[in-house]
Amino acid sequence: MDKKIQELKNKAVLEITGSFDLKSLEDLKVKYLGRKGEVTQILRSLADLSIEQKKVIGPQAQALRKELEELIDKRSAELKNKKTRSFDVTRPGKKIKTGHLHPLTLVEKEIIDIFKSMSFSVVDSGPEIETEYYNFDALNIPKNHPAREMHDTFWLEKNSAKNNKMLLRTHTSPMQIRYMEKHKPPFQIIVPGKVFRYEATDASHEINFHQVECLMVGRDISLANLKYTVEQFYSRVFMRKLNARLRPSYFPFVEPGLEIDIQCVKCGGRGCNICKESGWLEVTGAGMVHPNVFKSAGYDPKEYQGFAFGAGVERIAMLKYNIPDIRMFYNGDLRFINQF
Ligand code: DAH
Repeated sequence: MDKKIQELKNKAVLEITGSFDLKSLEDLKVKYLGRKGEVTQILRSLADLSIEQKKVIGPQAQALRKELEELIDKRSAELKNKKTRSFDVTRPGKKIKTGHLHPLTLVEKEIIDIFKSMSFSVVDSGPEIETEYYNFDALNIPKNHPAREMHDTFWLEKNSAKNNKMLLRTHTSPMQIRYMEKHKPPFQIIVPGKVFRYEATDASHEINFHQVECLMVGRDISLANLKYTVEQFYSRVFMRKLNARLRPSYFPFVEPGLEIDIQCVKCGGRGCNICKESGWLEVTGAGMVHPNVFKSAGYDPKEYQGFAFGAGVERIAMLKYNIPDIRMFYNGDLRFINQF
């Protein structure tokens, strides 16, 4: 085949098959087959050629015109159907933004993993709308008891029975009762869950936050089990060996009641700005389950003993990631959230 025709053919075929809309295809038709088109011009110039040349070039140019006409028709049909689209396979792809877990979810998962590895069962969080009975009475906090004032409560008026009002649970401790009503000792459980307090917010208080309730009950569970569990747990969350310190405190559902400190997660006990130079951080309320709580759940308090504690998830996350204000977890600022 004539070299010039061959080159023209290659170029035209490439452009026609690569066209991606009808407008550019129409332009190509004009470019090659229009009155002044490149193929048309070859056909016109045949008149100037010798007989021999005409015999060679003529049929080739005719065949090319026919071929290109067919190709343009075919491509036109394809584009009308929009079945094919040309695209540049070498272009870098668009980065797909994937979601990720909220820092509190991450920390809660980690807490769960640690307790699971210590053979604790993870119990479903239970109802966030709770009754006065489970949130207070069954936990040895009778009506008019001053301890109720420690819990600023969101009371719910609708659907509240006179003697058993509804509320947003102020702690995860009601799940101690709910679990014990249905299970017999020995057991060791944790209950992670959301809780609510009707109080003013500041850098360390939110109206809703998360706790992990821990409860171990058996025939001879002691404070030593509590101390060991707390030390193991906090050492593993903060990935350094931390000792615990038990101080007497008061919670109606435990006797003795304790406040537990751990060595400062930053300085390890030497004293720094985080622990206000004391070397210790207060992390959880705890104690040995009160006999009245066992009675509420239908257990014989002479037969069983247990320890309980309730840890704040936000507090752990704040210490772990050096977050200065609890409200950052909830204000939806992506500059914060996207760091996790
Ligand atoms: N429920 C308590 C609170 O929210 C925390 C707590 C204290 C839980 C002592 C316990 C406990 O299980 O034994 O303030």
